[in-house]
Amino acid sequence: MTQQMIDQAKSVMRKNDRGSYTVPTHGLYPFQWNWDSALCALGFAHFDEPRAWTEIETLFAHQWEDGMVPHIIFHQMDDGYFPGPDVWATGRTVPTSGITQPPVAGFAARRIFDRARDKALAASKARALLPRIHAWHQWFFANRDPKGTGLVAIIHPWESGRDNSVDWDAAFERVPTEGVQPFTRRDTSHANPAHRPTDEQYKRYIWLVQKFRSLGWDNAQLHDASPFQIVDPGFNAILIRSCVDLADLAETLGESEIATQSRAMANKAIAAMESLWSNQHGQYLCYDRAIGALVDSASIGGILAAFAPIPGARAKAISDRIEVLAKSCNYLVPSHDPTAPEFDALRYWRGPIWLIVNYMIADGLERAGRTVMADRINRDCLRLIEQSGFAEYYGAINAEACGGDAFTWTAAMVIEILSAQEIAA
Ligand code: DGY
Repeated sequence: MTQQMIDQAKSVMRKNDRGSYTVPTHGLYPFQWNWDSALCALGFAHFDEPRAWTEIETLFAHQWEDGMVPHIIFHQMDDGYFPGPDVWATGRTVPTSGITQPPVAGFAARRIFDRARDKALAASKARALLPRIHAWHQWFFANRDPKGTGLVAIIHPWESGRDNSVDWDAAFERVPTEGVQPFTRRDTSHANPAHRPTDEQYKRYIWLVQKFRSLGWDNAQLHDASPFQIVDPGFNAILIRSCVDLADLAETLGESEIATQSRAMANKAIAAMESLWSNQHGQYLCYDRAIGALVDSASIGGILAAFAPIPGARAKAISDRIEVLAKSCNYLVPSHDPTAPEFDALRYWRGPIWLIVNYMIADGLERAGRTVMADRINRDCLRLIEQSGFAEYYGAINAEACGGDAFTWTAAMVIEILSAQEIAA
């Protein structure tokens, strides 16, 4: 059973492998996506280590001069996706989008390095990637935290990866729709429109792209110019975890300056995360920087924060909070509270379960000693696969397969979870 599932997962990854990068899934996402790639490298590492390193190298080969690593790299033209390179107009030789995505690469590089069978290969690959990943982390704090609070803001919902989260419904209202050039969505011809963001949200996504484009994609200006500035605890937790992991990796490789700087960024951010804690909800919340207020929406972003080395009492509270969520769904962890009025069982980030997020939450809880809950989340991931195959995401009540199918990062997570179980057994 286990081996059969691993074999199926490998074949999904192979199908989406384009040689030096992997597409998230055929049709819906025909290019290289940033955090998809870094997480998919974790899966490759179990059966093809050189290929795992190549995935991350290809991503960083398209890093901008200022340090940003873009969220999409348009390696080969494909008009099945909107918005394509002509809309972004970032002026790169190989076109890319102009925003970024959750920085999981530091975490992934360290994990692949630690588990490497080919130690010499891992050392040379990691050594070359180290300054690049570090530059990306520094870019975040320089450009997305201009006042030096310790936490970074996203300036477009697509940066969080949680595109249509309830967390930014109110903030997104402040993004206008006037002046948006007419467009045709392509996502809804590949996936069920009822599982995707709404047309109204798409107009606002594109308004922000047009706004940033009008500023020449100059990151020194974009943060302050954006009407959308959200400090997402999940996003910051990923950045913190990657800084900590990069610090450890740098120490192992004798790069003490990178280690010291990474550790300092992480420590400052960990302390600042306390400002996002809500006793009332027993989890972290988003902070709307544009208006200076916490967002009263207890979604998965504040639970994903467990991926960072947060205080033990916070990790316990998050585990308790997941226990409460479990009372209103059959599978963990829903991306929004099923008892909240905004919960939308099958619509993208407004309710469904995402295996990559489950994996990161479980990993963090395990590190914090919350192994019972971590195991339960991992078991639910496998139950979802048995029930509905390698989907993009799943209904938390009935395990429906949602969004795209034959999904790379879902497959990679399954290999991760099953392989970890084998190692433990
Ligand atoms: C999409 O197109 O749905 C992505 O989430 C944006 O990168």
